Amino acid sequence: MSEGSGRVEIQSETDVLQTRQQARDAAEQVGFDTTDITRIVTAVSELARNIHLYAGEGTMEWKHITDDDRTGLTVIFEDQGPGIDDPDAALEGEFSTSDGLGRGLSGTQTLMDDMEIDTEQGEGTTITITKWHS
Ligand SMILES: Nc1ncnc2c1ncn2[C@@H]1O[C@H](COP(=O)(O)OP(=O)(O)OP(=O)(O)O)[C@@H](O)[C@H]1O
Ligand SMILES: [Mg+2]
Repeated sequence: MSEGSGRVEIQSETDVLQTRQQARDAAEQVGFDTTDITRIVTAVSELARNIHLYAGEGTMEWKHITDDDRTGLTVIFEDQGPGIDDPDAALEGEFSTSDGLGRGLSGTQTLMDDMEIDTEQGEGTTITITKWHS
């Protein structure tokens, strides 16, 4: 697998589709199977949609990763929006400020191997997700 990385500016609905396409291509390059590719694209779709809905705009950056005996994919979502009120409750799937189900973040955590939320009221949100190729 070649080392790679990429970046998408999220400002419109079209950009959300672009994040899905880039994440799919990046996941295919790692060699993930169809099930894992679907998991990754679904997770990316949720986080990109959240940026579009709640922060207005932001960025997605992906990079291929390696450790001693594995390869994988990390995707970082960053925005300067309002921040998430209660990230712990959001991860429990019990918190929504829209008419959504409030399942986006909790679902994303289930689909990925690792997820980190760094959020500050009025400052913005950074969410990092990782999946390893076993
Ligand atoms: N990037 C973000 N910036 C600010 N708030 C956010 C961001 N992402 C999520 N949130 C907040 O966290 C809540 C939970 O997000 P989550 O994606 O889990 O559910 P939802 O978007 O409300 O509904 P669903 O994704 O199921 O349609 C949102 O309602 C919103 O208040
Ligand atoms: Mg959501």
